Amino acid sequence: MAVLERVHSVLLNAADHRRRTGRPLVTLTYAQSLDGSIAVRPGRPLALSGPQSQTLTHALRAVHDAILVGIGTVLADNPRLTVRLVAGADPQPVVLDSRLRFPLYANLLQRNGLAPWIATSPQAEAERRETLRRAGARLLLLPTGADGWIDLAALLSRLAELDVDSLMVEGGAQIITSFLASRLVDQVVVTIAPLLVGGLGVVDKFSLPHPCTFPRLRRLTYEQAGEDLILMGEPEWSAE
Ligand SMILES: NC(=O)c1ccc[n+]([C@@H]2O[C@H](COP(=O)([O-])OP(=O)(O)OC[C@H]3O[C@@H](n4cnc5c(N)ncnc54)[C@H](OP(=O)(O)O)[C@@H]3O)[C@@H](O)[C@H]2O)c1
Repeated sequence: MAVLERVHSVLLNAADHRRRTGRPLVTLTYAQSLDGSIAVRPGRPLALSGPQSQTLTHALRAVHDAILVGIGTVLADNPRLTVRLVAGADPQPVVLDSRLRFPLYANLLQRNGLAPWIATSPQAEAERRETLRRAGARLLLLPTGADGWIDLAALLSRLAELDVDSLMVEGGAQIITSFLASRLVDQVVVTIAPLLVGGLGVVDKFSLPHPCTFPRLRRLTYEQAGEDLILMGEPEWSAE
C-alpha cells in the first residue's frame, strides 16, 4: 500500500501544519475514467472504482479527521462517507451547501455515527436551518464569495478552530475545481479506472468567476489496485 503509506506519512505533520497555517492539511481524492470523467453527468453517479481501490479509499478516510463533499454529491449519490470496508474511525462529514438544499432523507442524517456539519451562508433560510438542526446537523455559518459559494479559506480556518487537523475532499466536480483554483490542496490521490465515459469532467474552470491556473503534481507515487491505477502527488502551481 505505497499510496496509503505516503499519505499517512504526510499526515503525521498535519497538527503542526494546522498550528503553522491556521488550516487543516487537505487531501483531494476522487476516481476518474481515462478521459477524466467523474460521473455520467451531474446527478448521474457512476461506479468507477473497483473493490481494491474502494477499500483504499476507505482506508484513506480512516486516517483523516474530516471528509468533505458538495451538496451536488449528497443529492446525486446520498453517500454515507464511512470507513465500513476497513477497521478504523469514521471521519467527521462536512457538506458545502450555501442554500441548504440538504435533504432530510440523507444517509448522513440517518446513520448512528457522527452527525454532519453543513457549511452554509448566514443568508440561508432561518426555518430550514432550524429544521436541519433539529434533525441533528450542526450548521457552520460562513461568508460567501461573489458567486454565492462558501469562502473556502474561511471554511478551513473554521475547521481548524474545531480541531480538524486533516481534511479529505472527495468531490464532486465543482468542489474539486474550487479547491484547486483556490490552491488549498496539499496532496492529491486519484483513482484512474480503465474505461472511457465522455461524462462530467473533473475540472471545469469555465464555471469559475475568475481566471486561474491548475497545478502539476510532483513527487509522484503510483500503485495498481485490481484493474485501477492509483496516483498520488503533491500539487505545484506555476507563478502566474
Ligand atoms: N468519481 C468521484 O470520485 C466522485 C466523487 C464525488 C462526486 N462525484 C460525482 O460528482 C457529481 C456531483 O458534482 P457537482 O459538481 O454537480 O456537485 P458538487 O461539487 O458535489 O457540489 C457543488 C455544489 O456545492 C455548493 N458549494 C458551496 N460552496 C461551494 C464552493 N466554494 N465551491 C463549489 N461548490 C460549492 C454549490 O451548491 P449551492 O450553490 O447550492 O451551495 C455547488 O453547486 C455527482 O454526479 C457525483 O456522482 C464523483
